[in-house]
Amino acid sequence: MKNYLFPKEFVWGVATASYQIEGGVNEGGRGESIWDRFSHIPGNTRFNANGDIACDHYHRWREDVAIMRELGLKSYRFSIAWPRVFPNGYGEVNEEGVAFYSELVDALLANGIEPCVTLYHWDLPQALQDEGGWTNRNTAGHYAAYCKLMFERLGGRVKRWVTLNEPWVVAFGGYFYGDFAPGVRDFSSALQAAHTQLLGHGMAVQLFREMRLPGEIGITLNLCPREGATASLADASAAARNDGFANRWFLDPLFKGGYPADMQAYYRGKNLVLPKVNPEDMRLIAEPVDFLGVNYYNVEFTKQDESVWPLAFSLERGPYDVTNYGWPIVARGLRDLLVRLHSEYGVGKLFVTENGASFLDVENIKGEVLDDCRIDYVERHLMACHEAVEKGVNLAGYYVWTLTDNFEWNTAYTQKFGLVYLRHGSLDRVIKKSGRWYAGIVKNNGILNKS
Ligand code: FCB
Repeated sequence: MKNYLFPKEFVWGVATASYQIEGGVNEGGRGESIWDRFSHIPGNTRFNANGDIACDHYHRWREDVAIMRELGLKSYRFSIAWPRVFPNGYGEVNEEGVAFYSELVDALLANGIEPCVTLYHWDLPQALQDEGGWTNRNTAGHYAAYCKLMFERLGGRVKRWVTLNEPWVVAFGGYFYGDFAPGVRDFSSALQAAHTQLLGHGMAVQLFREMRLPGEIGITLNLCPREGATASLADASAAARNDGFANRWFLDPLFKGGYPADMQAYYRGKNLVLPKVNPEDMRLIAEPVDFLGVNYYNVEFTKQDESVWPLAFSLERGPYDVTNYGWPIVARGLRDLLVRLHSEYGVGKLFVTENGASFLDVENIKGEVLDDCRIDYVERHLMACHEAVEKGVNLAGYYVWTLTDNFEWNTAYTQKFGLVYLRHGSLDRVIKKSGRWYAGIVKNNGILNKS
């Protein structure tokens, strides 16, 4: 086997999200988020679990930073809980909340770990949801004001900013499928929620430029190739529709200045209400970013299925092994995706801001977690990244999802993605075999099979 070594300045990290790890939901002046509300409604999450304590990172963050240092990580992508900073979404600032993140940033820098801040990873202040959440255009303005505060307070120290994490999931998981907070089920609301988020993103990028802050800003999308479940024409066109629904609906406004015409026509044909677009919106949304963050987990094998409204497709697992989540393991999909973003969308710089896998990890009697499946998953995907780099893609870094096992949204604690195991009850951290293995990858700047 050959070596897969990455460009010199390649950034190696892990990614987390506030609601999934912090806990301390009623501490430090934090306000309620939509995930607090949602996870406390019986039936919404596995075993009705919630993020009240999660990994208790709010209290144990120093230990988590120490683990990252031990693993030699170069960068840590984490998100800020908006309701910790603005308990009511806007208005009065909760200085204790700002201080929490400010201290974390200082500790990371002191340990040689570069912070990468996600400004929105799904925990909207409940107070804003009470005003319509992302379906209310005003939320974009409140979001921009919150971003401005974070730029003022952390700017200069933080040099990599991600405006939004996976706006597709926020819009469609939250407002159409309803299996994610805030649990609304209305397709037109989802389209509006997508638009308001994109608007907020554009406003934040514009502010960042006006403030002339050092560093870079971008957005993270969940993207993956959609392939027909069979070779039939019907499945090929279902896959193209799925691509329009979830990839192009975000990529086209960001990089081509408008929503895809075929999807607009499709939605109109289904009598859906398209988002209200003001004249200046599209220019704002297409404000150039410094990078695009890609969260990649799998390929979606798409089948024509008239019984599913309004998109008329369903998904199949295909002839692949799957993770504990049931997601097919298809590493070539990541390579194909990165190449497409480079060639079709002309994206100048890319980061894989999330990639990883859930498996049923157990701690053995020696206190080890031997998660070879996860090592194999990450290794295959790194090889795919390397192939993309060889094809000329400017991939600047890779973040594993995630540091510790955590609150995995509606599946709660049943899907473990961590490089670090969390002991039941005590929440003690146990570095898994994959964590040690990843430390080696970081040290060698890639996969070293022979020296
Ligand atoms: C992504 C999310 C992240 C985590 C992983 C498994 O969609 O951004 O918070 O849930 O999936």
